[in-house]
Amino acid sequence: MTSKIAVIGTGYVGLTTGACFAHLGHDVVCADIVPEKVERLQAGDVPIHEAGLTELVREGIEAGRLQFVLGAENAVGAADFVYLCVPTPQSADGSADLSYLQSAAREISAHLQSGTVVVNKSTVPVGSTHLVEQAMNRADIPVVSNPEFLREGTAVDDFLNPDRVVIGADDQAAAGRVAALYLGVRAPIMVTDPASAETCKYAANAFLATKLSFTNAIAAVCEAVGADVNDVLLGMGYDHRIGHEFLRPGPGWGGSCFPKDSRAIISIAEDAGYDFALMRGVVAVNDEQFDRIVRKVGSVTPLDGATIGLLGLAFKAGTDDTRESPALEVARRMIAAGATVRGYDPAVKEVDVEGLQIVEDPYAACEGANALVIATEWDEFKWLDLDKIADSMAERHVIDARNLLDRGALRRRGFSYQGIGRS
Ligand code: UDX
Repeated sequence: MTSKIAVIGTGYVGLTTGACFAHLGHDVVCADIVPEKVERLQAGDVPIHEAGLTELVREGIEAGRLQFVLGAENAVGAADFVYLCVPTPQSADGSADLSYLQSAAREISAHLQSGTVVVNKSTVPVGSTHLVEQAMNRADIPVVSNPEFLREGTAVDDFLNPDRVVIGADDQAAAGRVAALYLGVRAPIMVTDPASAETCKYAANAFLATKLSFTNAIAAVCEAVGADVNDVLLGMGYDHRIGHEFLRPGPGWGGSCFPKDSRAIISIAEDAGYDFALMRGVVAVNDEQFDRIVRKVGSVTPLDGATIGLLGLAFKAGTDDTRESPALEVARRMIAAGATVRGYDPAVKEVDVEGLQIVEDPYAACEGANALVIATEWDEFKWLDLDKIADSMAERHVIDARNLLDRGALRRRGFSYQGIGRS
């Protein structure tokens, strides 16, 4: 059954949600507050790097099922469902800033027809579904929580082939209507109360961040005892209760979700009177991981006055997003220690890090460098011409924070090599 859906906010989540619902056959109107963005999107020009998204946006526009308008009030009048996909950035105290969400709710309230279901997809603290209800002040409009579990780079695939769909509602009829939107999607659909749905999103991200900090901590243990982390993790992952996924050691975790949501769940717990010490440890291990990388570089060349080549700036491969990128955090700390850092990334051409020079190709980053750091796991770094790099560097040292390169091939060319959790 086709429904009319309005999506408020055209960031990663909103745009993916809108384009995917249009792909599933619904009529979708997406609203944003930036006129140039709306114009570009209506012309099929997608400003973010997301596999398959441009194709879906163009498909939707051509089929007449997807349009973009300026201002939320212009999107919601005829809608059966309104998806709120506005940002919930972190405030100074670590909690989520809900001002965008509340003002979007207030703005649309007078324009909704009776019976429209408002669905919140933004990541929000427990209780926010009720805050949206209060901001709208409309007893005839049910508000439902439907958290997203999208990864950047694979958001379209994650939306269309999810592990599960979680719906939190006090109004069971409204929950059933939201569930029906996903008829074309094969996945378990779980209906619960709003607080459980909201907590589920934070708990899932916090658990994944825990898994990653645990992995990086085990890598540190492996370094100390002379074990190989890759083999240790392989042996662990065969236990199906643990699994192989999300066990890659790295320079720490980053991105737009994990750091923000980890800090938020600590603050949510604190406000509710629980000291989430485990999660504080998870965040501390991550911060320590950035320093561990910097110390590895410092162990092969004194950082003060050194030139460091940095391959990778995005927070992970497959995206141009540098929000809370471990690569940039490592760069900042090396610059603070007196190093000159030259960075290259296939997708990132601009960053806001004082003193970080961006170069156009990976070889320019290596030229004259005292050490090379691999910070993002882009495939193309595996196929670099190592002879060319060896000839151009001032000293042959590689710190491979993603265990990506062929250490044997590097050592044969006279490089010192340090990965994560293996020698
Ligand atoms: C994450 C969640 O996966 C997603 O479900 C949620 O909705 C949003 O947050 P995303 O931020 O896109 O998605 O990135 P993800 O692929 O999960 O990676 C997060 C960070 O962990 C990156 O810095 C990545 O490099 C790191 N990572 C991930 C590892 O270091 N090792 C791994 O094995 C996996």
